[in-house]
Amino acid sequence: MKICCIGAGYVGGPTMAMIAKQCPDIPVHVVDLNQARIDAWNSEELPIYEPGLHEVVKEARGRNLTFSTQVDAAIEDSDMVFISVNTPTKTYGIGAGRAANLEFVEKCARQIARSSSGHKIVVEKSTLPVRTAQAVKRILSSEAKDLTFDVLSNPEFLAEGTAIDDLLDPDRVLIGGESQRAIDALSEIYARWIPRERILTTNLWSSELSKLTANAFLAQRVSSINAISALCEATGADVDEVARAIGTDSRIGPKFLKSSIGFGGSCFQKDILNLVYLCEHFGLPEVAAYWEQVVTMNDHQKQRFSERIVKTMFNTVSDKKIGVWGFAFKKDTNDTRESAAIYICRDLLRERARLTIYDPRVSEKQIRSDLTYACTDANGQISASDQEMIANNVTIARDGYEATSEAHAIAVLTEWNEFKELDFERVYQSMLRPAFLFDGRNLLDHDRLESIGFEVHAIGKSSQRRRAED
Ligand code: NAD
Ligand code: UDX
Repeated sequence: MKICCIGAGYVGGPTMAMIAKQCPDIPVHVVDLNQARIDAWNSEELPIYEPGLHEVVKEARGRNLTFSTQVDAAIEDSDMVFISVNTPTKTYGIGAGRAANLEFVEKCARQIARSSSGHKIVVEKSTLPVRTAQAVKRILSSEAKDLTFDVLSNPEFLAEGTAIDDLLDPDRVLIGGESQRAIDALSEIYARWIPRERILTTNLWSSELSKLTANAFLAQRVSSINAISALCEATGADVDEVARAIGTDSRIGPKFLKSSIGFGGSCFQKDILNLVYLCEHFGLPEVAAYWEQVVTMNDHQKQRFSERIVKTMFNTVSDKKIGVWGFAFKKDTNDTRESAAIYICRDLLRERARLTIYDPRVSEKQIRSDLTYACTDANGQISASDQEMIANNVTIARDGYEATSEAHAIAVLTEWNEFKELDFERVYQSMLRPAFLFDGRNLLDHDRLESIGFEVHAIGKSSQRRRAED
């Protein structure tokens, strides 16, 4: 058995490194069109930050794990080809803003057809709309002359920041397919380290749809608790107490009830919009509207947070310095795709705030590029004033202290552990008064901060002054 994986991203890289680690006798070749990304996978500075990943890659690289741009050769040489390319939301034409852009998946299918002979097992690892396997099969059978194939759906459930633990010990592995032989071949690989009872098999369509559904349910929980956070702020209830109270009901469970500035990441929004598009396509407008509300609530949560900052700071943040702690969409990753921080920073900049941003893993280049993209309109244009504001009103700090020195306020936008370890007396001394702190992740010890002198405003908690009035 030889494996090839097309796409060396956040999924292709870690999943293939784990397979190579667990199956030292199976050659695993990961290919990508992006030379810089492949060079980084072959270096000491991996293209993605993920705890524990470097050790796994180092163990297998050069033994049975290869990274290259030799896409055709790798396909030709393999028995099983994983498609792990990006499937972003379409930005143009029919379904723009909702449907998945399947251009990259289709190109992979055509390339597999061109570069293959004999028998291949083609595995959909990318998240795809239900019934995509039908299109993949049609392309493979219409383009390939000497090829027989099986198509499997094997969606990935890892979360960034915990990818290695998730891959080592997943709740389940899902394999959808029609050929028992192909399903068995893929199951054998996972069974090297995952108990058989956790390897679930279904038909192709259930597997494809289960991935979209899992992400929709997870995102729905975040939007549900975020909706309640707004009511908590208005009433004096505390969202963390409500989450604990409901989470101890075993039917609800405690996970994914952490209220925040809104979910980010490359998956949740894109996959829900994809589900919405599918529902509309299949003539189910009420079902589509139901799921779309999860995204609407998420947008509302981001907007509510930046508005709360402005309102609290005497209705203006113009020319005020706000120290921003965290830009990644969650801790333990350098990924900023759809990070709530991007939109909150953009909105504060448009209120003329001066932002000093610190994130332990996100580069200055990435932050500026994300803010520029967030200010770009549907025609790809950015106004001169937005451009000027990103150039002049955004500074990148080297640590949490530099970000908040002489600041009017702190905004905690990512829950990095290191923020909890800061010397808050020192931070407070370096700030202007009142020293506002907006905790968008309910990360910090608010009682302690208030005893130091900070005016704390947290998600789903009424402000200190309001509590005093009560
Ligand atoms: P990514 O953008 O990090 O990586 C995709 C890679 O594919 C890129 O490096 C790109 O250059 C490469 N690529 C695109 N077309 C190619 C082609 N024709 N030939 C060779 N390489 C090509 O994306 P990702 O985050 O790894 O996501 C990949 C898929 O996995 C998506 O469908 C996503 O929804 C799904 N997924 C992602 C996560 C996650 O946490 N990021 C989790 C589960 C599932
Ligand atoms: C998600 C799914 O969890 C994973 O199974 C799938 O394979 C890919 O999409 P990911 O986006 O990497 O993973 O991270 P996740 O931990 O799900 O967090 C997504 C967003 O929701 C983050 O912005 C996070 O901060 C936010 N979140 C999560 C909350 O605000 N509250 C929570 O309780 C949980």
